[in-house]
Amino acid sequence: MSKGKILLTGAAGYIGSHTWVELCQAGYDVVGVDNFYNSERDVVERISKILGHEVMFEEADCSDIQAFGKVFAKHSDIVGAVHFAACKAVGESIDKPLLYYRNNIVSLLNLITLMTEKGKKANIVFSSSCTVYGQPDKEHLPIAENAPLKRSLSPYGKSKQMAEEILSDSVIAYPNLKVCALRYFNPIGAHPSALIGELPRGVPQNLVPFVTQTAAGIRDHLSVFGDDYNTPDGSCIRDYIYVVDLAKAHVKAIDKLLGDDANAPVAIDEPTYVEAAKTGRWSVYNLGTGKGLSVLELVHGFMKATGVDLPYQIAPRRQGDIEQVWADPRKAERELGWRADTPIEEVLLSAWNWQKTL
Ligand code: UD1
Repeated sequence: MSKGKILLTGAAGYIGSHTWVELCQAGYDVVGVDNFYNSERDVVERISKILGHEVMFEEADCSDIQAFGKVFAKHSDIVGAVHFAACKAVGESIDKPLLYYRNNIVSLLNLITLMTEKGKKANIVFSSSCTVYGQPDKEHLPIAENAPLKRSLSPYGKSKQMAEEILSDSVIAYPNLKVCALRYFNPIGAHPSALIGELPRGVPQNLVPFVTQTAAGIRDHLSVFGDDYNTPDGSCIRDYIYVVDLAKAHVKAIDKLLGDDANAPVAIDEPTYVEAAKTGRWSVYNLGTGKGLSVLELVHGFMKATGVDLPYQIAPRRQGDIEQVWADPRKAERELGWRADTPIEEVLLSAWNWQKTL
């Protein structure tokens, strides 16, 4: 029996596609929505192939309320939404701020409007980012949900901060709205089937796609941006989380939203959104492994896991990079019963297996 129908926006994207698979395998009916602005059409067929059955899909731009409204009219029985549809490149957001605000903010406003207007229960899992913490002070590492949010430097980061503000204000205003915001650290890797994975367009900006393209000979070497940071080996430290583990957290978040007693007392441990948290219909979780890995550790880990040589050179620091950040994921473990436990070698191998299919 189905656990209910979930709307999945940005369903053909990197994290969206992996979450689609996990939600279906956990017993939910999923309606995927995407406009393929930054994803490929054949992802929908690939999802079907992994699942072994047809999937529900609607092509629509979530920032177009008419088009998005039609999806809601057709699927009036949805019980929750997982909202990924957004642009995600930090550098591009600096050049095209309006694109980012339109896509990331207007889509969210439309989603909240359409979810809440019928007076039915509106459950939203929102795709946030550790970018909301900015450059954390050393004493806040590993970073927990109650750490201060520092003003982000990019329109992308600001759009995630604004989205959390909008959602938390809406929770106060709409008693039928319940929200779970998930702050991702650095998602990497691909589905074990190697049918879905990350599909960067042009030269990859993120580390792992650049690593796998270099290993495949598409790029002649990887530049390690900086070896003079105040870290043990001098390169930056991040919390790299397997995209399938990350996807599974969304299933837990939806389970929690659908299962929770709306008025259950909650521990108010988020100084940023106290009023929203008091409603008992607002929660935020870090999704990371809890372990920091340096760029050089990842590079050597990749060579060890795959047996493939990876030519790299030390290059100057990349502007705007944060020296080190990793998660304290214990709240998600405590309240969602979730943890990321796939070994990094397996994760890096999955990224390589995916690259080999491209
Ligand atoms: C970036 C964004 C983050 C976003 C995430 C998406 C910033 C400040 N943050 O994270 O908001 O959610 O992408 O995954 O831009 N590196 C190299 N060589 C490369 C590429 C990267 O050394 O060719 C290093 C970077 O300096 C960094 C680490 O690898 O230390 C990870 O970089 P990246 O994958 O781009 O992610 P973030 O910058 O952490």
